[in-house]
Amino acid sequence: MGNVTVVDHPLVKHKLTIMRNKDTSTASFRRLLREISLLLAYEVTRELELTTTMIETPLETMEAPILEGKKLVFASILRAGNGLLEGMLDLVPAARVAHIGIYRDHETLEPVEYYFKAPQDIADRLVIVVDPMLATANSSIAAVQRLKERGANHLRFLCLLAAPEGIKAFTETHPDVPVYTAAIDDHLNEKGYIVPGLGDAGDRMYGTK
Ligand code: PRP
Ligand code: URA
Repeated sequence: MGNVTVVDHPLVKHKLTIMRNKDTSTASFRRLLREISLLLAYEVTRELELTTTMIETPLETMEAPILEGKKLVFASILRAGNGLLEGMLDLVPAARVAHIGIYRDHETLEPVEYYFKAPQDIADRLVIVVDPMLATANSSIAAVQRLKERGANHLRFLCLLAAPEGIKAFTETHPDVPVYTAAIDDHLNEKGYIVPGLGDAGDRMYGTK
């Protein structure tokens, strides 16, 4: 699949297996998502631009590479996106943050937006959109569309689990936005859940079911 990177590091696979297990507690689920986000962030930020700064080591002056951290925006699709966001901010504390409140209607699976807040200068920045689940892709397609309407023109999408149907829909609608995921599962069921999946990510993160 073009423009899709599966981050299949053994540590990611191991942690994802524990997250999928229905007996894993809310606390463990949240901790594991945060840990995996660090590993996924490593991959999605691999080609970030660097600048240099002059520093003094104990031995001499050197021109050393540093990230242009302020050039990044992490855009979290609420609620579950925050589970990935927190770890990514640990790695890139200077990044700006956009929040997009979207839930999907349980009957129609259509996205319903209830909140949007993004930095003004989003057009000048790389925007990494985060949400653990890419199922029908209705939510992520809508979120990216909204960000593009606000001027974003350089985006990536990072998730934990994707369905083949969601990958197809997302990459056909937004072919310019590379997708990074830890796994592509088998299919969507009749209720739009990823199978085998891990259930409802938001409910499992926050213990709301
Ligand atoms: C989940 C998930 C995604 C969406 C994926 O959110 O976090 O945003 O479903 O499904 P889709 O690809 O079919 O749109 P949900 O709607 O459960 O909202 P929540 O995070 O507030 O619980
Ligand atoms: N949203 C989730 O949280 N899980 C799924 O399997 C599909 C959509």
